Amino acid sequence: MGFVLQSFVVLLCFTPAIVCQVTEFVSIDCGSASNYTDTSTGLAWTSDAGMMGQGKPVVVVNANVNSQQYQRRRDFPADSNKYCYTLKTKERRRYLVRATFLYGSPAAEGTYPKFELYLDATKWGTITISESSRIYVNEMIIRAPSNSIDVCLCCATTESPFISTLELRPLNLSMYATDYEDNFYLKVAARVDFGAQSKEPIRYPDDPYDRIWDSDLKKRPNFLVDVAAGTERINTTKYIDTNTREYPPVKVMQTAVVGTKGMLSYRLNLDDFPANARAFAYFAEIEDLGMNETRKFKMEHPYVPDYSNAVVNIAENANGSYTLYEPSYMNITLDFILSFSFVKTPDSTRGPLLSAMEICRYVQIATKTDEQDGTMTIPCLV
Ligand SMILES: *[C@@H]1O[C@H](CO)[C@@H](O)[C@H](O)[C@H]1NC(C)=O
Ligand SMILES: *[C@@H]1O[C@H](CO)[C@@H](O)[C@H](O)[C@H]1NC(C)=O
Ligand SMILES: *[C@@H]1O[C@H](CO)[C@@H](O)[C@H](O)[C@H]1NC(C)=O
Ligand SMILES: *[C@@H]1O[C@H](CO)[C@@H](O)[C@H](O)[C@H]1NC(C)=O
Ligand SMILES: *[C@@H]1O[C@H](CO)[C@@H](O)[C@H](O)[C@H]1NC(C)=O
Ligand SMILES: *[C@@H]1O[C@H](CO)[C@@H](O)[C@H](O)[C@H]1NC(C)=O
Repeated sequence: MGFVLQSFVVLLCFTPAIVCQVTEFVSIDCGSASNYTDTSTGLAWTSDAGMMGQGKPVVVVNANVNSQQYQRRRDFPADSNKYCYTLKTKERRRYLVRATFLYGSPAAEGTYPKFELYLDATKWGTITISESSRIYVNEMIIRAPSNSIDVCLCCATTESPFISTLELRPLNLSMYATDYEDNFYLKVAARVDFGAQSKEPIRYPDDPYDRIWDSDLKKRPNFLVDVAAGTERINTTKYIDTNTREYPPVKVMQTAVVGTKGMLSYRLNLDDFPANARAFAYFAEIEDLGMNETRKFKMEHPYVPDYSNAVVNIAENANGSYTLYEPSYMNITLDFILSFSFVKTPDSTRGPLLSAMEICRYVQIATKTDEQDGTMTIPCLV
């Protein structure tokens, strides 16, 4: 059995056109009793038993998901200690760090856990559980400050801190560069695949970097509402050239939404905003336009002086159809409620098109104070 699973992983590595990074993935199943290979992805998951001596594994009562990763979690005491996992990194290499949380138990006396998540000394976010069977995903894009990072839990205000999974995914050199990386990390606030064919997110192996691309079909409160009339979903099976800076997966770029009445608009809430953000829009022309047809549009909202007057003509900007065009905004201030719209120019025969987008909030890096091995006591300012 072990041999069969191993061969499967090795085979994945030889898939043409996919750079094999699997061997560099770190996937920790917190609270798990054993190491295993997830047969749906071929990824090897490691139990945290050998690296975390604190807290205790807890069997999740009602995971409501099939993944083995969510059958157990690790609970930590609700005290004034900071509980840290140390992950090895290569200094100055960029990574996606992901921590996920599925509680899976009934609320104790009506309250779910609420606690803090840290990356080294930098506050990553407050984890507020309000649904027992929802997977709360937190992603941070970092350039590793040294040869290891600590992901820490602490400061529960209700119940006790816990964690389900911890993942480290190396990124390629060109990906998610910013002018501010000496001082800021990027916390992922939204990563949406428009025109998605199912409610399931797209991730590894479709995305060799294992980012999670949320489906626009997924219904959540205040997520992708106020959709303009005439919005239609389109798809293609043709290959899309995505070899630009961020390498969005081909599968994400094979679907899109188009505003057949001349406008595309959406509204969504961005947690922890207003804030300064790095934002990316991903476009690929996947309709075969006639010789006398054009698709030209502008971003009307939010109004950004240097960008809103620029006319997007995807095929021209990308230098061809079925090719990625990815304009990005290095530093844009966005509100808690993000409303955005693209509107066709008067001389365009087709309405606007959008394939995917990503919004990341800048998080100021707090300097690592001293060696934080395993557990340390910190004053909890709650
Ligand atoms: C799981 O894998 C880790 C890392 O390879 C190893 O240190 C540990 O002993 C393994 N645990 C079990 C239960 O096999
Ligand atoms: C990074 O991108 C370059 C250029 O496309 C490619 O040659 C290289 O294999 C990529 N490396 C990784 C680790 O994905
Ligand atoms: C994909 O597009 C075709 C038209 O090109 C349409 O008939 C089909 O329903 C679409 N599939 C999905 C899953 O959206
Ligand atoms: C972004 O722009 C704002 C306003 O100009 C500036 O204060 C801030 O330092 C810039 N960078 C980041 C990472 O927020
Ligand atoms: C484009 O040309 C075709 C064929 O010549 C014609 O049927 C169609 O109406 C034209 N479309 C537009 C928008 O002019
Ligand atoms: C656009 O594509 C054409 C044909 O493939 C090529 O000759 C040209 O150099 C490309 N231009 C740019 C700016 O990439």
